[in-house]
Amino acid sequence: MLSIDKNDDKTNPENLPGEMKQQSADDSQRYNEYFATANDHIAEGNLTHTIKLLKSDMTIIWDQSKGSVLELCESVGLTPPNNCRMGTCGTCETKLVTGDYEYDPEPFMEPLDGKIFICCARPLSDMEIEL
Ligand code: FES
Repeated sequence: MLSIDKNDDKTNPENLPGEMKQQSADDSQRYNEYFATANDHIAEGNLTHTIKLLKSDMTIIWDQSKGSVLELCESVGLTPPNNCRMGTCGTCETKLVTGDYEYDPEPFMEPLDGKIFICCARPLSDMEIEL
């Protein structure tokens, strides 16, 4: 549990930078705790995962605001093949090398073994994909 000691420079809210200092006294007494596995990363309060794109030789960071793996790739300028964007056509099928994921939305068909539909996949861990 984190405690706030007004005599400690590291926990005294008066020593916080910029707008954090302007929070009310009640806010200064709040604290957040985040729990994650060793492969998870926390950035600005968001759970993030690293997605390594092996063919593109890129590593990109997914967070909950990025949506699917396909949307994340597009947000950094990549244009992976896709069509339906909801798991019905198979166009975005990509080999998963490592990592865990969940589907949201659930695709209407199953990808081939070892592959995922990146239009519906959201990371649950760091991932490596053949893209
Ligand atoms: S774009 Fe159709 S299944 Fe992903």
